[in-house]
Amino acid sequence: MCGIVGYIGKKNAVDVVLDGLKKLEYRGYDSSGIAVVKDGRLQIRRSVGKLKNLEENIEKRPLKANISIGHTRWATHGKPSEENAHPHTDPTKSIVIVHNGIVENYAELKSGLEKEGKEFKSETDTEVIAHLIKKYYKDTLHCAVRKTLKEIRGSYALGVICKDEPNKIVCARQDAPLIIGVGKGENFLASDISALLSYARDMIFLENGDIAELTSDKIIITDTENNVKNREVKNIKWDCVQAEKEGYKHFMLKEIYEQPRTIEDTFRGRIYPDEGRVYIEEVKLSKEDVKNISNVYIVACGTAYHSGLVSKFLFENFAKIPTEVDIASEFRYREPILNEKTLVIVVSQSGETADTLAALRLAKSKGCVTLAVCNVVGSSISREADHVVYTRCGPEIGVASTKAFTGQLTALYILALDWARKKESLSKEKLKKYLKELWEVPVKIGNFLKQAENVYEVAKKFAHKKDFLYLGRHINYSIALEGALKLKELSYIHAEGYAAGEMKHGPIALIDDDMPVVSIAVKSRIYEKINSNIEEAKARGGIIIVIASESDKAIADKGYSVIYVPDCDEFVSPILSVIPLQLLAYYVSVALGCDVDQPRNLAKSVTVE
Ligand code: F6R
Repeated sequence: MCGIVGYIGKKNAVDVVLDGLKKLEYRGYDSSGIAVVKDGRLQIRRSVGKLKNLEENIEKRPLKANISIGHTRWATHGKPSEENAHPHTDPTKSIVIVHNGIVENYAELKSGLEKEGKEFKSETDTEVIAHLIKKYYKDTLHCAVRKTLKEIRGSYALGVICKDEPNKIVCARQDAPLIIGVGKGENFLASDISALLSYARDMIFLENGDIAELTSDKIIITDTENNVKNREVKNIKWDCVQAEKEGYKHFMLKEIYEQPRTIEDTFRGRIYPDEGRVYIEEVKLSKEDVKNISNVYIVACGTAYHSGLVSKFLFENFAKIPTEVDIASEFRYREPILNEKTLVIVVSQSGETADTLAALRLAKSKGCVTLAVCNVVGSSISREADHVVYTRCGPEIGVASTKAFTGQLTALYILALDWARKKESLSKEKLKKYLKELWEVPVKIGNFLKQAENVYEVAKKFAHKKDFLYLGRHINYSIALEGALKLKELSYIHAEGYAAGEMKHGPIALIDDDMPVVSIAVKSRIYEKINSNIEEAKARGGIIIVIASESDKAIADKGYSVIYVPDCDEFVSPILSVIPLQLLAYYVSVALGCDVDQPRNLAKSVTVE
């Protein structure tokens, strides 16, 4: 969690850092702060709440310099307050740091420093790092940071400046992302590339254990033993405009409407429906390798976990591989039975989710083959997994995941078909049919989005309700869970997703004439079954909202609110049926005046356990 940005060069560093922090606000928005060195003096501004508070603070007490570091915080140690906001300094105010991560042994380090007479101003774990750097500062900042990092256990992306070496920034990473933007006569650092896209295209993704020293015209990377490390400079092609709202009121709405393109980008060059061919360049598993897989675990958190639940049906139905799906925070502590024939797929938009990363490491330690479905190029998960399928969705800024989810569904669908092909568990005709079905999805979603006004009407009508039920079955049960999650996180309305067949075993007691029941009843093998479940809910007074297939004319006469989606095969239907549920949650949230892109208590990238 938290976002950090740094700049050294000829521009006004304060403008560059503030601009970068704006792009990183999705990583946390409890407080923010910025530090500069000017005329041999450290100057710091910090504010509680969103970044605009810091901007107002700087307007009142202006800052200008050629070197700066900044931070936007999501609290882990210590409440959101000005004292706990970064940057933090040592007591003599000569070292200043910004930090993303957690110092696991901070209590022990802090008590050691307190015994030496050091006083602390905040409740954060970060402040101990500033104290330690000062303690070890004898000759150079770089050397002091190296010594400090040897004492720290935990995760960090760090940016450090020192008033006595005003021409350099030292930064370091361990289990938290940190990227260097390479400029001409200027250099940058940030937690992710979206903060730097307006300034630099050449990026270096620091690796665990790296410490870098940035001056305006030089970047030196070493490890903690001071051995020089050569890191590749990657040219990033992401479009700057991709990271902006493009005229939409919220990033989330923009990202919902981007889905025809992001889904297509995810399968582009990977599927050839006419030839019945699938080609995923990044996955180097041969036919023999795939045949040797005894079982698959899909491990992820939140929305990404729901994509795993959908994909279980695909791996089992298409590739005939027994598949289990687990929440990463559960998987890592329950001693799952894993061996070298188990393939573990981790799914993560950010590629930095702490529990998912830990699950990946656990799988690796047990000798499993690992594969990541990931959106952020160069993220920790994408670098550590044996194979990666990128979802090619571009930056997802809205805290609620939308386009990354359909990207994950797309990538996993392709993967299941690729393995079905390698195992010959599907006929060529079926393979072509399923590929064609996916191929048509972007156009179908585009058509749906062009006339999605009735979702807005439904949202307006029911936004004041206190509880919602979401029902689904078979492959769309997970979409009921996802629909409920979207509503909860965006509008703070209580919502539950249920397998419709489970209703009679307890939850049906919840239904009364004030309860909207959102049901996914698209054409599929369980169409009749879910319709009976809907009738049962209606008989108890439930207000029925149905996601139905366009060709289902009969459903129009049943007195439900109906949202039609284009007809498609049941195995791709989750990619379509989730779109109205994303929009429903979005419009309810807007109707209630909630903060759509930054819902309360949440942050985009959960890099702590
Ligand atoms: C919900 C949402 C979260 C994430 C989860 C995993 O809208 O976005 O539930 O899906 O925190 O994040 P990643 O995919 O980055 O690992």
